[in-house]
Amino acid sequence: AGFEMAIETAVMASGDPAHLVRAGLLDRFHRLRMRSTALTSRLSDEDMGAQTMEDVSPSKWHLAHTSWFWETFLLEPYLPGYEVFDPRFGFLFNSYYEALGERQPRAARGHITRPGIAHVMAYRAHVDGAMERLLETCGEADLERIAALIETGIAHEEQHQELILTDIKHVLSVNPFAQAYSEVLPPPAQPGPAAGWIEHAGGLEDFGAEANGFVFDNEGPRHKAWLAPFALSTHCVTNGEYARFIAEGGYETASLWLSDGWARVQAEGRKAPHYWRGAPGEWREFTLHGEQEMDLSAPVSHLDYFEASAFAEWTGYRLPEEREWELAARQFNAGSARPMTPDGWLHPASADQANLFGGVWQWTRSAYAPYPGYRAQSGALGEYNGKFMCGQFVLKGGSALTPPGHIRASYRNFFPPQAQWQMTGLRLAKDI
Ligand code: AVJ
Ligand code: FE
Repeated sequence: AGFEMAIETAVMASGDPAHLVRAGLLDRFHRLRMRSTALTSRLSDEDMGAQTMEDVSPSKWHLAHTSWFWETFLLEPYLPGYEVFDPRFGFLFNSYYEALGERQPRAARGHITRPGIAHVMAYRAHVDGAMERLLETCGEADLERIAALIETGIAHEEQHQELILTDIKHVLSVNPFAQAYSEVLPPPAQPGPAAGWIEHAGGLEDFGAEANGFVFDNEGPRHKAWLAPFALSTHCVTNGEYARFIAEGGYETASLWLSDGWARVQAEGRKAPHYWRGAPGEWREFTLHGEQEMDLSAPVSHLDYFEASAFAEWTGYRLPEEREWELAARQFNAGSARPMTPDGWLHPASADQANLFGGVWQWTRSAYAPYPGYRAQSGALGEYNGKFMCGQFVLKGGSALTPPGHIRASYRNFFPPQAQWQMTGLRLAKDI
């Protein structure tokens, strides 16, 4: 089993003749690859090589790593006679797969000053050409397996498209003259309808992905679980609400904080979320569009888990369980995904407020752990999600940077609680 299973069935079930399956995949592959490079088109070579903290990977590394993924999981095993572009790239661009050997330490990806950008672009072109040959020439018998792996490769590169934006935001933010990634101007602030509660009686319910279309393995297996009655806010917490938490002493009140979070806030002297600039009453924030006036009606973003938890504590409510979020999303969601385009607004906007999926990844208080019955598949791809199921929390929804295909009720994003550089916010929940 594994995450390709569902799509194998889907390809089989589609009944499309093989040549249409090939053409469809090739078209999606090309558009995916073009979008990845388009995301970096406004960056300088120096922007693309910078690693400004351990969690940030250089854009150049993302462009190369995603190519290595195609090479490793599709071309080497399935394209007869395929020659890797450069045998050293396995070391440089293997992210974390122990089954595939030694690699450059994550925190030292910025040391990879060579290959340069042009060479990485040549790597991409080499891989693109070979993928085209693979799709045109692979035997009918292999097509289903290859199609399933291509779905995985597309979902993978899309995750890295989001990471390219997330990471370059940090790079541009620490430039002494903080730089804008995009010149698009902010949409006007639009205070929306007042927040309310989505109530649910709880009970025994089904959770996890149903087998239709590609899903990651961590979204299943589908299983039953019991929930107590709960309510979930219709809205994400806004910048304005978070500003009040700050103004009323949130960062000075130990009793609101988890111990690990309080220790961090103390050690850093932190007084506001990571990208907030200015001071109470005149908050501004750093965005991919440069430093902007704070839209107080937009969802608050770039909170770590501890900030989200302290805020929830301050309100008297709590963070949701991941299954509460999933249930509400299935039953009540009318949220639509925002299209990700480099020309668009790359920040949560007030329009996202009442969109269950919109604007920000939302911290849940659920530990990122396997669902009942989960087994990682064997081999290197089994390392994709399963081995991270310790010490991280599940996030639901999707941010302004998330490719639309990743917006679904069963999706389980995950980050460690101290992560601030992701576009993360929260939605409140309560017991009823
Ligand atoms: C699901 C976003 C936590 O950032 O490592 C990229 C995505 N997995 N390549 C990550 C991922 C493999 C993953 N997150
Ligand atoms: Fe990856």
